[in-house]
Amino acid sequence: KKVVLAYSGGLDTSVIVKWLQETYDCEVVTFTADIGQGEEVEPARAKAQALGVKEIYIEDLREEFVRDYVYPMFRANTVYEGEYLLGTSIARPLIARRLIEIANQTGADAISHGATGKGNDQVRFELGAYALKPGVKVIAPWREWDLNSREKLMAYCEQHQIPVDFSTKKKKSPYSMDANLLHISYEGGNLEDPWAEAEEDMWRWSVSPEAAPEQPTYVELTYEKGDIVAIDGQTMKPHEVLEKLNKLGGDNGIGRLDIVENRYVGMKSRGCYETPGGTIMLRAHRAIESLTLDREEAHLKDELMPKYAEVIYNGYWWSPERRMLQAAIDETQKSVNGVVRMKLYKGSATVVGRKSEQSLFDESIATFEDDAGAYDQKDAEGFIKLNALRLRIAAGKGRKQD
Ligand code: ARG
Ligand code: SIN
Repeated sequence: KKVVLAYSGGLDTSVIVKWLQETYDCEVVTFTADIGQGEEVEPARAKAQALGVKEIYIEDLREEFVRDYVYPMFRANTVYEGEYLLGTSIARPLIARRLIEIANQTGADAISHGATGKGNDQVRFELGAYALKPGVKVIAPWREWDLNSREKLMAYCEQHQIPVDFSTKKKKSPYSMDANLLHISYEGGNLEDPWAEAEEDMWRWSVSPEAAPEQPTYVELTYEKGDIVAIDGQTMKPHEVLEKLNKLGGDNGIGRLDIVENRYVGMKSRGCYETPGGTIMLRAHRAIESLTLDREEAHLKDELMPKYAEVIYNGYWWSPERRMLQAAIDETQKSVNGVVRMKLYKGSATVVGRKSEQSLFDESIATFEDDAGAYDQKDAEGFIKLNALRLRIAAGKGRKQD
């Protein structure tokens, strides 16, 4: 019996290694990925070895994460409940896929993860796993064991001689955090009171807008088929783009968010997020689309977006409905090429210019000056009258208007 565990190298997942070995008498394979969380992944090797793990997978998935998950999601201008840029949600399908691939390679019949039984992440990992390997067994220790406090976890470490520096000796952060190239999230601690303002020193990636530079930063983003391919004319890979925009955004106080959201399992949850690069990308993408998409195409896309966001938030990346929506979204992006100029200043990312060879904007038609017959204003009279017809009929028959 063998199980592949999504292993961070931290205290919780180290306890899970031991617990799986003991409880299920099984061989544990660990999988640790660098998706831009900003922590070294290599130390996970020695820690796993110390726990008796023989098959250890450590991978740099930053490029794949942004190219195949973040970028496709941003083509839809995806936002959950009007605010959340889905930083955690979009990383889970990638982890689920690698867990299953590694299970297949190593002949494991089970996967395991460190998500609790109260959250979204368990759903995302497991829906993904079942979609990709229908017969897989899932072990979710947090739903089974009774080690649901820091004290009990520490006691378990002592009992089983798990070196406690696995928890890093530094003072443990009071928040439940999750970081990758798209965002860092904070939940729990004093945030559990939705009225309590987040402490300034909680935020790790951005300065506060108040403390941001007095001078604005300008940046030009080049789009090809809806994806950013260059910054200020310099070609970059997707993950390099996001890294760069995170830096620029963070330095200018951009991308902080404090919300109460609806989890798929039914409860409301308060979370704070820093998504500096993503916040710039969302604005800029809408700007390049404003020039290049047809009106009805753009509006229909906007109608599909909340559904697409919900599909991702709820963990259905590996589903027919996500693929169907993705195909429709990607189809619209063929003409989404050009350059957007952004001004970053004290917490805001403002579009100040946009241009495209595929632009549908026609100055000769839009102008307030003489358009030399490009648009006949007299046509508007009939257009309005026919559109008003049903309204006039109703009013004429005495329908109340309020
Ligand atoms: N509430 C966010 C979401 O559901 C963030 C979850 C953070 N996950 C974590 N393991 N700390 O996507
Ligand atoms: C967890 O419960 O493990 C983190 C929060 C979530 O998944 O929503």
